[in-house]
This record gives sequence, C-alpha cells and structure tokens, in this order.
Amino acid sequence: LVSLASMAYAQQPQAATGKRLIDILDPQSQATQNMQGLLWTAGIFSFLVLIVTGGALWWVVQKYKTRPGTRPTKPGDSNEPAQFHGNNVLEMFLIGVPVLIVSVLSIYTAKALADVTAKPSNVAETIQVNGWQFWWDFDYEKQGFRNSNELVIPAGQPVELKVSGKDVIHSFGVANLGGRRDAIPGQTNKLIINAAKPGIYYGQCFELCGASHANMLFRVIALPQAEYNDWVSKAKAFQAPTPSDPQLAQGLKVFQANCSGCHAVKGLQGGAPSFPDLSYFGSHTTYAAGIFRNVDNNSELSKEKGDRAVKINGQERVVTLEDWIRNSAQVKPGSLMPAFDGSMHEVKNAETGKWEEVPYTKLSDDDINAVAAYLRSLKLEGVNFKAIPEI
Ligand code: CUA
Repeated sequence: LVSLASMAYAQQPQAATGKRLIDILDPQSQATQNMQGLLWTAGIFSFLVLIVTGGALWWVVQKYKTRPGTRPTKPGDSNEPAQFHGNNVLEMFLIGVPVLIVSVLSIYTAKALADVTAKPSNVAETIQVNGWQFWWDFDYEKQGFRNSNELVIPAGQPVELKVSGKDVIHSFGVANLGGRRDAIPGQTNKLIINAAKPGIYYGQCFELCGASHANMLFRVIALPQAEYNDWVSKAKAFQAPTPSDPQLAQGLKVFQANCSGCHAVKGLQGGAPSFPDLSYFGSHTTYAAGIFRNVDNNSELSKEKGDRAVKINGQERVVTLEDWIRNSAQVKPGSLMPAFDGSMHEVKNAETGKWEEVPYTKLSDDDINAVAAYLRSLKLEGVNFKAIPEI
C-alpha cells in the first residue's frame, strides 16, 4: 500500500491545469480499469488481513503479558497458564482462510491478465515502436510514414504496438492506458492499448537507459476515428513544400546542409530511421522526446505554464527551439545531436586512435532562427493537436 501510494503521488510532471499527468490511479482504458479493480481488491484484502492479524496480536499481547505477582515460579504452580497441545478447529481456520484469500486473488489475477493481454480480432492499427537513446520512434509501417515522439491513435479502438529497443533496453509505458513493455534490442514485445476517449495521454521510458532516461517522454494523442483517418491520409500525402518566404528558404538550405544527413523530412533527400523524423514537426505538440512544448512563437513560453527552464551559459531561462538546435546537450543531458555553436568536443582520431578536441560547426543566429522557422512551418494543414485536452 505504501509503495502504491508513493508511486501514485510521487512528484510527476504537471499540466498547466495542475493535474498530475502520469497517474496510475486514473484509468482511461478497459485494461487499466481491469488492473485497477485487481489493485483495489488486493489492497482491501491486504488491509483486512493487516487489521485482523495486527488486532489479534495486540489482543494476545495485552491478555497474556505478565503482570506483577502472576509470573509462575515453577511448572505446575497456580500461576502457570493452561497447557494444551494443538487445536484442530483453529488450525483449519488458520490454513483455510489464507488459502481462500490467495485462491480468490489468483483467479482474479489470472482473469485480469488474460483480459489485458488478449489480442482482439478488430485491431484498428499496428504500429512499430522503437526506443532509442533518448527518444521514441513510431513507425506506421503499413501506412508508410513515421511520427517520432508522438503516438497518434484512434480513440476507442484497440491498437497493437510492436515494441523494440534499438540501442539499449528501454521500457514503453502509458500509465493510464495500461501495460508496459520492455523495449529490448533484437526482440519484439506486443502490447494492445485502447484509449477510452480522445485526448492527450502521457507516456515515458520506464527502464533506466542513460543520462536522459528521465527526459525520454512521449505523448499519445487519441483522436476520434474520422479525425484519425484524416490525419493518416494527410501524413501519408505530406511532401515538404518549397518555401517562397526568404527566411524559410534560408532555413531549408541550412537544414539540407546540416540536418538532413540524419533527420528525414518526407519529400527531401536524406534522413535515416535511426534519427527522429521531422516531417510534420510544426504539427507536433512537443519536441526533444516530449520535454519541450512546441509553439509557433517563443513569447508563448513561460515557466508559469510549465515550460522547462534550464541554465544556459550560466543564466536560467525557458528553453526555446533555437536553444535546442544550438546546443541540445546543454538543455537535455546526453542528447546525441551535435551542437551548432562552435563548442569543442572530443573525437577519436581514426588513424592514431587518440581522442582530440574538435570544434562543432558554428551556425550564425540568423541561420539558427531560419532553420527553426522552417521546422515550425512543416505542418499538416488543418491538423491542430494543441487544442486537444490533456487527460
Ligand atoms: Cu529509455 Cu529510459
């Protein structure tokens, strides 16, 4: 009970509304309702056992403790308590009741487990989930597109996730949609999730995986079926536009020169599956694996709204997309994206085998602002997840 309470009420990231975002006591799917029922039943049984056994112990101690003048001095004297050996009725009771409780809980557990893991015949979507240090990739294999760090699903429909790790072991979990699956390299673990109602749900990595394990978040965005279908068709059809605005055109050039070696954007050359897909970056609610809010204008950011502030060059301030691009490791420890601020880093010389200090590429503020503006402009028309309520 203590661990249950501490899990539920440990300090968690909070929404602007002050509501706890990751709350195991707030079931939002059939699976979590099943688990919740089991949790409370087991909890109540445990509490009853605690009361009965604790009460009996207290009663025995009070009744039979020695008092002045009642200690027997030798066997058989008048103060010696009644001596007896065994009590069949009491022993049957002591064995029977625990067996009964354990049997009821076992049957209930087996049933809940079967319900939670059963694969329904009407799976609406199958999505490959890949855990990377320190972000999540959602590959809509059948649809032919990826959507990194935000898992968009149809609400009220069973969705099958095929969870795997790509470097070290991670663990995929959304507390109020239920279930958790380890993301293990070379292995696929399946999980069915079904969000009862449309909304934004919070997930995170549940397996210590390195410096930014705690920053390996993601969001599940459950949409009504028609909106989901609309999103899928738009994501499928998306092709990066050729911007006419001079700043965006500059941003595209900077992106192609510095970013597209790793990051895919549909319609542009380059990119690899081992780096986040940025195709519809502007339609995402967050970036950097769910830790920073993605806004059209930096003036929308504030600490009061829950946006993260980090010490940058010795001064604490709310992190912007431009800060992230300039030096991601400064705002997210262990981030593997190279910096673009000309700072030094160590590289192993292939010939000598020695580590050498080498500067990162330095982009001008102008170029950084342009590439940020370009990324924000990559939107799916008519898609606005920012208005969806947080659950
Ligand atoms: Cu990935 Cu913890």
